[in-house]
Amino acid sequence: MSIQIAPSILSADFANLERDLKAIASADMVHVDVMDHHFVPNLTLGEPVVERICQVTDLPVDVHLMIEDPDRWAPEFAKLGAASVTFHMGAAHAPVRLARQLHDMGVKACFAVRPAEPVEPIFDILDEFDMILVMTVEPGFGGQKFLANQMAKTRRLRDEISRRGLDTHIQVDGGVSPSTAATVAQAGADVLVAGSAVYGAADRAAAIEAIREKATA
Ligand code: DX5
Ligand code: ZN
Repeated sequence: MSIQIAPSILSADFANLERDLKAIASADMVHVDVMDHHFVPNLTLGEPVVERICQVTDLPVDVHLMIEDPDRWAPEFAKLGAASVTFHMGAAHAPVRLARQLHDMGVKACFAVRPAEPVEPIFDILDEFDMILVMTVEPGFGGQKFLANQMAKTRRLRDEISRRGLDTHIQVDGGVSPSTAATVAQAGADVLVAGSAVYGAADRAAAIEAIREKATA
């Protein structure tokens, strides 16, 4: 299984986004966290900024919506040039309808679970999604401690995907660093989001490679 690294620009310098996007050119995608002060207690950026990010980066843009009413807003983000849009189990009213709508727009659809949410309810609709995001922190902020107790869930999800011969990706987000990368990869995750571990490092390319190496070792 090939590992993909998705640096999160939540930990970048928002006054120097273009510079900080160039610094992660060796990554596989860029992860953009959209927060609304309602679904999570933080507020980041919206459509105009996502649109400019899509215009200035060559990387696929992976939009992680931590917002209420993604049924209303996810298609608006999909229009801007994102490669994938992730919305949360705890916010979506009609996840299958929304996933199909995103696919009709040519955008990958991803479904996210928070640490207290079980993954089993997704099993019946797994084939509607390109990727499942297992949060390994409570969503809302960068730099939190990795929740190792999410690995059993990740393993159950990987086993179900393998059993059914699906090609669904598993993304993990929160506290991923060179020291936790092997753990998440062994549990079956193949898309690793890392914010502070990449942007907190002086050499961002080296940090990306360090995570990749640990995950593939
Ligand atoms: C948190 C966001 C993450 C965040 C991860 O809710 O979804 O993408 O940037 O940050 P780190 O890697 O620092 O835990
Ligand atoms: Zn995220």
